[in-house]
Amino acid sequence: MDSTSLSSMDSSAKGLLNRVAIIGATGYGGLQSVRLITDHPFFNVTYLGGNSSSGKQWNDAIPFLPLENNPLIHKIDIDEISRTSDYVVLSLPNGIGSQITPQLLERNLRVVDLSADYRYRSLDEWKQTYINETSSLRNDDYLCSEAIYGLSEWNFEKISKARLVACPGCFPTASLLPLLPFLKQGLIETDGLVIDAKTGTSGGGRSAKEHLLFAESSEGITPYGVIGHRHTSEIESQATEVAGQKIHLQFTPHLVPMIRGILSTIYARLRDPGLTADDCKTVLETVYRDKSNIVVLPVGKYPSTKWVKQTNKAILSVQVDSRTGRIVLISAIDNLIKGQAGQAIQNLNIMAGLPQDLGLPLLTYYP
Ligand SMILES: NC(=O)c1ccc[n+]([C@@H]2O[C@H](COP(=O)([O-])OP(=O)(O)OC[C@H]3O[C@@H](n4cnc5c(N)ncnc54)[C@H](OP(=O)(O)O)[C@@H]3O)[C@@H](O)[C@H]2O)c1
Repeated sequence: MDSTSLSSMDSSAKGLLNRVAIIGATGYGGLQSVRLITDHPFFNVTYLGGNSSSGKQWNDAIPFLPLENNPLIHKIDIDEISRTSDYVVLSLPNGIGSQITPQLLERNLRVVDLSADYRYRSLDEWKQTYINETSSLRNDDYLCSEAIYGLSEWNFEKISKARLVACPGCFPTASLLPLLPFLKQGLIETDGLVIDAKTGTSGGGRSAKEHLLFAESSEGITPYGVIGHRHTSEIESQATEVAGQKIHLQFTPHLVPMIRGILSTIYARLRDPGLTADDCKTVLETVYRDKSNIVVLPVGKYPSTKWVKQTNKAILSVQVDSRTGRIVLISAIDNLIKGQAGQAIQNLNIMAGLPQDLGLPLLTYYP
């Protein structure tokens, strides 16, 4: 449990249901958010927003996750969202959330955005990576600098007071959790960093895409975005902030034939070649000692994506190759939970003064 215990919980949160609007509720991130909040003791879904699904009753559109009272899915309606909700989870394609976030904040709603719209400190930085992906016209540079990067374990204090939290991407979450402790303590060289990552197909969202067809993605492994995948700049910008010096790194994602999960393997050169794997494990354990959703494995054990499936857990592992002077860091997360909706609920917990693991699954059903 984090520093906020149930007994010291904010009285405004205790016993009261915080009202949450989920926009993009029928997508993968929205569905996980609805599912997690359904079981949450202090949050309640009060508004469901969508696009092509709007106008439908929820239980007709999503019969596998029926909701009490069978609510209607709405088009985005700012006045109705502000009348019904205190918090808003935006689980929308890039470039859409930022069209409505200024209006939501003006109405005193607190926003958790799952897209990349607010993950960079400035609009210029965002444009360098995303302008060709979206037609969105934006002039909310002030919100880019205000938004807090929602890597829950690293920005707890700022998230707790934030109006706007930008949840990290799935690959950045998996990669930054093991990497940041070593950059922060100056234990690794900042050049020559390599991240090799694997993801399941749900990372591409629920809308139809040719490369995610069963016939295309099953029974094979494919690299994509080999140079300049958009998560490269996000990882670099967070790594740069923590290291205090500019970082350029090599990041290569691969699509593997599974539905959920990310496995990230990071290679770096140790500054002190005398450091052992046990020393490096102690570094991770010390940083995450009070975080029950982060597990550091004994040296010689390595995580599988199956171990974190449908949980908000990250399992980390470290090894050192004394022949090459390199450290190898490995992490596994569920891209839709810790990599997306679970981290969003973790951040909502922090914003509401609740224990950060509240309502979040930490144990998988194996296999
Ligand atoms: N998938 C992952 O592993 C992952 C991880 C971390 C972050 N993310 C990010 O999280 C966000 C959501 O991703 P996802 O995979 O959940 O996407 P998704 O499955 O494609 O769902 C997108 C949702 O957005 C809704 N939507 C689209 N345009 C809309 C509009 N104009 N107005 C209202 N609703 C609209 C869709 O509603 P209709 O169905 O009604 O059209 C759908 O519910 C993205 O920005 C993504 O990059 C994804």
